[in-house]
Amino acid sequence: MSGHRVSVRINGRRHEADVEPHRLLSDFLREECGLTGTHVGCEHGVCGACTILLDGAPARACLLFAIQADGAEIETVEGLAADDRLHPLQEAFWEHHALQCGFCTPGFLMTAVALLRERPDPSEAEVREGLSGNLCRCTGYANIVRAVLAAADRLRTTGTGTA
Ligand code: FES
Ligand code: FES
Repeated sequence: MSGHRVSVRINGRRHEADVEPHRLLSDFLREECGLTGTHVGCEHGVCGACTILLDGAPARACLLFAIQADGAEIETVEGLAADDRLHPLQEAFWEHHALQCGFCTPGFLMTAVALLRERPDPSEAEVREGLSGNLCRCTGYANIVRAVLAAADRLRTTGTGTA
């Protein structure tokens, strides 16, 4: 296939592939890199399911072409757990029943990771605002907000897992 060479580091590991110029980053992650934890819902930048971190900032992978990410550092949900240990946000989502079908969860987790890096001690209002670009059709959001606040507490007290 003729294409453009894209080279990115994802969760600390180098991935390279030749892609067509119109290849979406979300499809590149899922199909070329096998990282299917990044979910694709609306493909229009509305639902937030495809949220990843691009050079540390949350980005919608469905709104970017893979070639735009060339040379970037990308973090996806697969990079959150370390060895057999879930990230504190993942543990909190589990403990607070912050997911049902789980389709939206990777996007919420990556958005929350960025939020807590920037604001380690957020108010409930700040969490709600920070997550306001992510849609969940199942949970009603209350448990997601609780989980993020609980994870923030845990991260502050243990100083671990800032992933
Ligand atoms: S799939 Fe990207 S925002 Fe919905
Ligand atoms: S848990 Fe089903 S969409 Fe959020």
